[in-house]
Amino acid sequence: MLGRLARNLAQTGSRAISTSSARAGLIPTNTQATLAQEGFKTEHVSSVDDPTKIASTDHHWEHAFTGPHTEDNRAFTYFVLGGGRFAYASLARMAVVNILGTLSPSANVVAMAKVEADISKVEEGTAVTVMWRGKPVFIRHRTPAEIKIAEDTEMSELKDPQTDAERVKDPRYMVLVGICTHLGCVPVNKMGDYDGWYCPCHGSHYDLSGRIRRGPAPLNLEVPAYKFLSSKTILLGEN
Ligand code: FES
Repeated sequence: MLGRLARNLAQTGSRAISTSSARAGLIPTNTQATLAQEGFKTEHVSSVDDPTKIASTDHHWEHAFTGPHTEDNRAFTYFVLGGGRFAYASLARMAVVNILGTLSPSANVVAMAKVEADISKVEEGTAVTVMWRGKPVFIRHRTPAEIKIAEDTEMSELKDPQTDAERVKDPRYMVLVGICTHLGCVPVNKMGDYDGWYCPCHGSHYDLSGRIRRGPAPLNLEVPAYKFLSSKTILLGEN
C-alpha cells in the first residue's frame, strides 16, 4: 500500500509530500519516516493552524488518485452538454408546432367559412334561409314595389341611418344575417309594421332593407360578406 502510494506520487512529478497532509495527521509518524528513507521530503508540524487553508492547497493528492484532466474528458463533457441542449431545442420546437397546429382552423371550419347559395329558385316576393357559420342568413327576392319603398325611405326616419343602396349589391336581393341586434333572437320574415322582419322576443320591427324602425333593437340587421358568383349563385363569406 505504501509502495503504491509512493509510486502515484512519483508519477505526478512531485518529489515532496505535501506538508499539509502531514500537518493534518493523514500520514502517521512511522510512515513519514519510511517515506523519508525512500527519498521523499517531509516536515513535522505539531499542530494544525488553519485546516481550510490546508485543504485548498493540497492538489498533489487529488492528482495522484484521480489523474489530471485530459482532452478526452473535455470532449466527453462537451458531448453530454451539447446533447442535452439539442434535446431541449427539439422539445421546444415540438411544443411550438403543436400549439400552432391547434390554432390553425380545421378543413371543416374553412369549408364552413364560405357557403354557396343557389338563388335560382327564390321567386320574387319570397325568401329562403341559409345556414352560414352557424347563423341563419335571409335571402329575400324583393318585388319592384318593395325596392321602391326601401329606396325612398327618409334617413331622418331611421334609428341607424343607412341608404338601401349601401346595403345591397343587386337591389332585387336583400341578404341579411337573421339575428336580432337586440338580444339575438331570429326575426320572422314578412311581418311587422314595415313588412320586412319582426322579432317576436321583444317586438323589434325591421323594414324591407332590414333596417331597425321600431322596438328595442339598436342597430340594423347585419349584411354579411357576400358576392354574386353568377345571376343564380351567391357566395357567402367573401366580398
Ligand atoms: S331579441 Fe329581438 S327584440 Fe329582443
